[in-house]
Amino acid sequence: MLKFRIYAITVVLFGEFIMPSYASDPNYDESKVPEYTLPDSLVMRNGERVHSSEMWTQKRRPEILHLFREEMFGKTPKYQQNTMDSEIVEMKENTLNGKAHRLQIRLYPIKNNHSFPITILAYIPQNTSEKVPAFFALNFKGNQAVTTDNEVIPSISMGYDPKFKGKPQEEILRELTEHRGETASRWPIEMILDRGYAFVTACYYDIDPDFNDGFQNGVHPDFYVPGQTQPAPDEWGSIAAWAWGLSRILDYFEGAEKGEGELTHRIDPQKVAVFGHSRLGKAALWAGASEERFVLVISNNSGCGGAALSKRAFGETVGRINTAFPHWFCENFKKYNENESALPFDQHELIALIAPRPVYIASALEDQWADPKGEFLAAQYASPVYELLGTDGFAGTAEMPEPNHPVGGTIHYHIRTGKHDVTPYDWRQYLDFADKYLKP
Ligand code: GCU
Repeated sequence: MLKFRIYAITVVLFGEFIMPSYASDPNYDESKVPEYTLPDSLVMRNGERVHSSEMWTQKRRPEILHLFREEMFGKTPKYQQNTMDSEIVEMKENTLNGKAHRLQIRLYPIKNNHSFPITILAYIPQNTSEKVPAFFALNFKGNQAVTTDNEVIPSISMGYDPKFKGKPQEEILRELTEHRGETASRWPIEMILDRGYAFVTACYYDIDPDFNDGFQNGVHPDFYVPGQTQPAPDEWGSIAAWAWGLSRILDYFEGAEKGEGELTHRIDPQKVAVFGHSRLGKAALWAGASEERFVLVISNNSGCGGAALSKRAFGETVGRINTAFPHWFCENFKKYNENESALPFDQHELIALIAPRPVYIASALEDQWADPKGEFLAAQYASPVYELLGTDGFAGTAEMPEPNHPVGGTIHYHIRTGKHDVTPYDWRQYLDFADKYLKP
């Protein structure tokens, strides 16, 4: 187990893929991809064909959603909206070279339970008083890591990171502060603001620390029924919890819109794009699939359990991911370790659940662990649902494009040169894409 934890940390630190140990080597040979049959998204499990958008919305979509809930991400507990506490802890104008209003907000998703605040960092363009669309993104290493802005409050939930084990809080804070901006290359915040979008982020550790502790910390225990000590086999793992956190952040801005909040109401909650990289790309896809209030979804290098087809078993597989990260998905998902052919769905249907809302899937050439071709094919096979719902879907794209040549329509795709990462090139494509759908 220790080995896997170290592995997980290494991945976060260096943003590279490193293989966990596993019985056999991962397959990177296209000729060794097993034969597989993908479920047809437009055929019900009882064999009935889906012939209308109503039938998709009323019957087939709920059927697929149910399968993903029970067999993969796990069900989230019932949550009564508008029951959170929150406080604006800081609000300042003229930050980021005069481009942004900065807001820092503490959100307590459960009223009167202040044990796990989600600390939101929001930058809102200063050059307009209009409502603006926004990108919501969870971050890996704390709000203080996304920017060198030295007034950003360090995300102390990072103290749960096993690398800080046993260290006093002051030391953790000092280390976090010393490494301010360490992931800033992934977050071109000023470019996002210049293009007229707000940027809203929070650390995923605030919602559920990313290591396997049998779901004792983070949000899960707050929802255990008396006597319960861990989620049931069909209940939420960590990825579903991170997606849940994104919904709570959206709740906050919806609520803020209705009431007071001087600046909070400047974010248009009906124009929120959800973005995520890698494991957080998996969370972004699940957030978009399970939460229709997110109107645009971006999955950057999400790979296995995200946009990549599981049945190809290329690079990272279901068995590998469930072994290295046993807390990400629900217990039921482990039934499919080395047994992908038994899966009653595949990841093209995760994308289809987002239809007809725009979705961008991005791969990187050197990120074979995430199976770029599997990500491309999932985008392609999601298209019939998008088309049934009256959009152009993947716009007839049938061939994987050359690197750095985005393709598609409402479903968009690119494969970038380079490694597993988020780059300004990626963001420029996302902003162009968002402009099409979120700008008047
Ligand atoms: C590992 C893991 C991937 C994940 C990535 C990340 O490489 O195997 O599934 O996407 O970490 O989140 O960085």
